Amino acid sequence: MKTDFERILISKEEIQSRVKELAQQLDHDYAGKKPLFICILKGSIMFYTDLLRALTIDCAMDFMSISSYRNQTTSGEVKIIKDLDDPIVGKDVIIVEDIVDSGKTLSYLKRLLASRSPNSVKIVTMLDKPERRVVELQPDYTGFVIEDEFVVGYGLDYAQDYRHYPDIYILSRSVYEK
Ligand code: IMP
Ligand code: MG
Repeated sequence: MKTDFERILISKEEIQSRVKELAQQLDHDYAGKKPLFICILKGSIMFYTDLLRALTIDCAMDFMSISSYRNQTTSGEVKIIKDLDDPIVGKDVIIVEDIVDSGKTLSYLKRLLASRSPNSVKIVTMLDKPERRVVELQPDYTGFVIEDEFVVGYGLDYAQDYRHYPDIYILSRSVYEK
C-alpha cells in the first residue's frame, strides 16, 4: 500500500456490493419513472458510473461541475463551473455526490435545483460524515456512514491526487500536515 495512506477504509469489493444494493433500492423507488441523475464533478464520477450501470430502470444523465468555497464562507455558496445542459422542469432529479461533510455544498445545490421547478429532488451520496455537519442536510440514500477522517480514492481527492484508486483510503496526516 502506498505510504500516503494510513489504511484502507472501504475495499473495492465492499464498495461494489453496496453500489448494487443502492441501485436495487433506486430501481424499486423509481420504477416506472425516468429520473435524471446529476453527476457532481469530479468527485462522484466513479460512484456515478458504477451506480448507473447497476440500474435497470430507464434514466437520463447530466453533469455539473462546481467549486465550493470551503471554510471561507458560511453560506456554503458554490461557484458553478459547468451547469446542467438542459432544464429540469417537471423531472425527478437525483443528485449524485461523493461525500457529505458540512452539508453546505449540497444544501445550496438542492435549493438551487429546487428553484428550477423539478418534480422532485433527492440526494444519493456514497459517503456521509454526519459528525461534521454544520447545516441540516439528510441525504436520501447513503452508501456508507464514516467517521471524521479525511478519505481519498474512488473519485475522492486531496489536491487532485488519488482519485483513480478503486478503494477508499484514510489519508495519512503527514500528507496534509507537512
Ligand atoms: P461540504 O459542503 O462540507 O459538505 O463539502 C463536501 C465536499 O468536500 C465534498 O464534495 C468533497 O469535495 C469535499 N470533502 C469533504 N470531505 C472529504 C474527504 O474526506 N475527502 C475528500 N474530499 C472531501
Ligand atoms: Mg465534491
